Amino acid sequence: MTARVVGAPAERREGREKVTGTARYAAELPSLGRLFARPVPAAVARGRVTGVDVSDALALPGVVTVLTHENAPRLAEPDDPTLAVLQGPEVPHRGWFVALVVADSLEAARAGAAAVHVSYAAEPHDVTLSATHPDAYVPEEANGGYPAVREHGDPEDAFADAAVRVDVGYRVPPLHNHPMEPHASTAHWDGERLTVHTSSQGTTVVRAVLAGMFGLEEEQISVVAEHVGGGFGSKGTPRPDVVLAVMATRHTGRPVTVALPRRFLPAVVGHRAPTLHRLRLGADTDGRLTSLAHEVTTHTSRVKEFVEQAATPARVMYAVPHSRTVHRVVPLDVPTPSWMRAPGEAPGMYALESAVDELAEELGMDPVELRIRNEPETEPDTGRPFSSRGLVACLREGARRFGWAERDPRPRSRAEGPLLLGTGVAAATYPVLVWPSTAAAHALPDGTFLVETNATDIGTGARTVLAQIAADALAVPLERIRIRVGSTDLPSAPLAGGSSGTASWGWPVHEACTRLADRLTDFPGPVPEQGLVVHADTSGTADADSPYARHAFGAHFAEVAVDTVTGEVRVRRMLGVYAAGRILNSRTARSQFVGGMTMGLGMALTEGSTMDAAFGDFTESDLASYHVPAHADVPDIEAHWVEEDDPHLNPLGGKGIGEIGIVGTAAAVGNAVHHATGVRLRELPLTPDRVL
Ligand code: MOS
Repeated sequence: MTARVVGAPAERREGREKVTGTARYAAELPSLGRLFARPVPAAVARGRVTGVDVSDALALPGVVTVLTHENAPRLAEPDDPTLAVLQGPEVPHRGWFVALVVADSLEAARAGAAAVHVSYAAEPHDVTLSATHPDAYVPEEANGGYPAVREHGDPEDAFADAAVRVDVGYRVPPLHNHPMEPHASTAHWDGERLTVHTSSQGTTVVRAVLAGMFGLEEEQISVVAEHVGGGFGSKGTPRPDVVLAVMATRHTGRPVTVALPRRFLPAVVGHRAPTLHRLRLGADTDGRLTSLAHEVTTHTSRVKEFVEQAATPARVMYAVPHSRTVHRVVPLDVPTPSWMRAPGEAPGMYALESAVDELAEELGMDPVELRIRNEPETEPDTGRPFSSRGLVACLREGARRFGWAERDPRPRSRAEGPLLLGTGVAAATYPVLVWPSTAAAHALPDGTFLVETNATDIGTGARTVLAQIAADALAVPLERIRIRVGSTDLPSAPLAGGSSGTASWGWPVHEACTRLADRLTDFPGPVPEQGLVVHADTSGTADADSPYARHAFGAHFAEVAVDTVTGEVRVRRMLGVYAAGRILNSRTARSQFVGGMTMGLGMALTEGSTMDAAFGDFTESDLASYHVPAHADVPDIEAHWVEEDDPHLNPLGGKGIGEIGIVGTAAAVGNAVHHATGVRLRELPLTPDRVL
């Protein structure tokens, strides 16, 4: 059967609900007698709570109760220690929640929170990352289970012997996810059943964590995430809001909503940890790499170890006989870092792809050509064959579309009055991830089909693409497919994360629908009243180790104008070309790519927070100070892809597209700024104060 719907630019199924405001998010569900709870963040960066005076808060109209570590329900210890809220007096970082005010309105909860008086025994804190910090250590693993260190050959000697060398440092500041919808949860009891609406990228784990912490059976709990206003990794695992909402509903017996104010997010939902990079590249005079060392130092909190895996893309990108990739981490009194879109690749490829540009300059070689010259035959770190590798195709197609051939390679070669113009290129890569999932497909007597899986649509269009997959497998028009996602009452499925959602959920959807179509062919007579159902489960297939190295690739091109009077950098054009297997919905895929590139533009030019050493927290905690690109900042962005027919992925042939758009984008912009100005800036973001 030839695919008819997969690949088409099908429109988002929930689009109308979203733009008309009828889509309900976790904090918006009207419910009778619901209470609102507001957490109180710690006002010291390290120490312990010595007392909480709640009398003023309780005297306010509408305040129902105040939970503190002294009266909050005791919970079983969670695997994720950031969820152990109100379980003890210790304050591991500023912003850690020390009390929860529960009231009959949002306003009363806010007033109550302001009236809680917390006293602390403060201790000296240390929040300052440096590569020479005495507490730096090499962890067992970096995030994602990657080994912290890999070494091949003798990179030190090979670097010393190299004809051409680059030895440079780069710095990426802390970055924050800041989804449109801040984290929020509404919980209520109905007899022995707990129902939770939460803004999450995956409710299967939320339910398991709540069951464990509150001593419940999973069957007693329903966790629903029908609409989610983005997450970018910060909603990949449960966050304190959902624990606090359940705690408060258990304590009061009434429905409770906890909606975190945006300013609380940086301290409690994770962030991209700052990374300090040292890159040493050695090459022969033909531009062939002989040595590559990428060493990263990052921070984690005292609560748990999370190590941004920023040196891992250097294990995938280029053929080089001698290499070393190292992660080091410093535990500090900072909020706990976590996943943010393309953890590892986003900061790592900024540094690596900037250094490759520096090497091209040293060699006097075109940076596109330099990359092509170092194309590996097998995955450099493991020697495994690539299932498919489209980097060269992306570089060539991007160069053609962008007009790269007309570029004068000399820096400062183009000007318009006070503006200096330049162009830059960088490569992108992201691993192919897939996790076991389940789904059910129902044939109904009216000729329609219902497909169910606990996927989460975080704004990507998951419902839409799953319907397309189902329609093709069943060989019926798209309109005859109904999709239900976003609830633990549906067949279990993994989170929307790691660019794995469509592959993971689509696999059992495809399988269930294919088998249902077969059953219908053999089925005598009409579909019975109760329908026909087929369940599929990819445990044992989707998690099987592949003999292939599986990665998506891409190339980013950018043109910038640098104002020599104000120091302002404006991106004029951005173009991305991706090789990500089969593209299953051209409309939603383009949105994912353009969204990722826009986030990369923000990373390059405006985003970043500063850790205030004295205060012990991020200075920028809301969108007034943490600057994400606005429409006026985002120029002409083009996203294209090259067709890839990769049989080693999954039945749908897609590689995942959610994260690769942010990978390397900042390097393309930074390389363009260098081309425009002749000045190499090695710290993000490229704000006017750095440019001038
Ligand atoms: Mo993404 S950072 O894997 O949710």
